Amino acid sequence: ALPHYVKMVEVGPRDGLQNEPALVPTTVKVALIDRLSATGLPVIEAASFVSPKWVPQMADNAQVLAGIARRPGVRYPVLTPNLQGFEAALAAGADEVAVFAAASESFSRRNINCSIAESLARFAPVLEAAAAAGVRVRGYVSCVLGCPYEGRIDPQAVAQVAAELTRMGCYEVSLGDTIGVGTPEAARAMIRVVAAHVPVERLAAHFHDTYGMAVANLYAVLQEGVAVIDSSVAGLGGCPYAKGASGNVASEDVLYLLNGLGIDTGVDLDALVAAGAYISEHLGRVNGSKVARARLAA
Ligand code: HMG
Ligand code: MG
Repeated sequence: ALPHYVKMVEVGPRDGLQNEPALVPTTVKVALIDRLSATGLPVIEAASFVSPKWVPQMADNAQVLAGIARRPGVRYPVLTPNLQGFEAALAAGADEVAVFAAASESFSRRNINCSIAESLARFAPVLEAAAAAGVRVRGYVSCVLGCPYEGRIDPQAVAQVAAELTRMGCYEVSLGDTIGVGTPEAARAMIRVVAAHVPVERLAAHFHDTYGMAVANLYAVLQEGVAVIDSSVAGLGGCPYAKGASGNVASEDVLYLLNGLGIDTGVDLDALVAAGAYISEHLGRVNGSKVARARLAA
């Protein structure tokens, strides 16, 4: 059965913008996040506290957190790959963080310069420090439906990493189709395997739309009970360590799907379209959301 409510997690300001070659001014990031928080979105991933040598676009993470007008009830998580990132995030006032692992060894090495096991060992002190500070931690698993270096990924490998992140204290695990190669029955089968280890209520779908399958894949996993969906306004983004990966599924397209299914989100489509139009204009980009293009043309 389909969920009655879906929590939409907006990742555009982080997953979307991290891949932009030209530095986006902090003021524009802040304006985007504030527009997004006015749409009714409950969660907006605002930045990442990673090495600025690896991801220069996120170097202004603390200024972004300092600049936004925090709306009561909205959470603003940030990515933290290690204790150094966590401490910087905490000092910048982060109210939630996310650690990110992969189901593929090769991707783990390219993305965070260590093996899967080493990454989990690095996350342990982050989870401890977060628990002590009363900060919630989300977990990510990348390459759940395929890897740019290894190809097919065994759903059991995904389940193992997701189960370990949950055991370590992550309240939710977001399953990333990093390169957007999944198809609906593969997505459904993967969720069934993972849900045998982690309750489906704690799983999120984080699908990139490289092959145009993300909305179809989301419909499949909604039927499996997944009720948390990550997306990027205007379909912003890609991943710097996954060549050819396009942006996340567009938030406007996800919302249009959910509205059509009669699933409550609390998010206003017109306001979301306006936020996507703002950032697309700033970046000089064709809006990556078909729903937004249709609404703006109407
Ligand atoms: P490393 O080089 O192995 O780290 O990088 P290190 O501990 O050896 O430190 C080397 C240098 O980095 C030192 O500086 C540290 O201070 C610095 P130096 O002495 O050379 O001047 N450093 C840091 N600086 C700021 N913040 C930190 C930090 N940690 C170390 N937290 C590291 C390891 C993880 C840091 C690096 O590989 C990195 O930053 N990678 C970036 C990964 C990334 O941001 N990827 C994109 C996000 S993940 C994603 O998009 C997927 C997702 O969307 C889900 C999906 O779609 O699948 C989540
Ligand atoms: Mg991603």
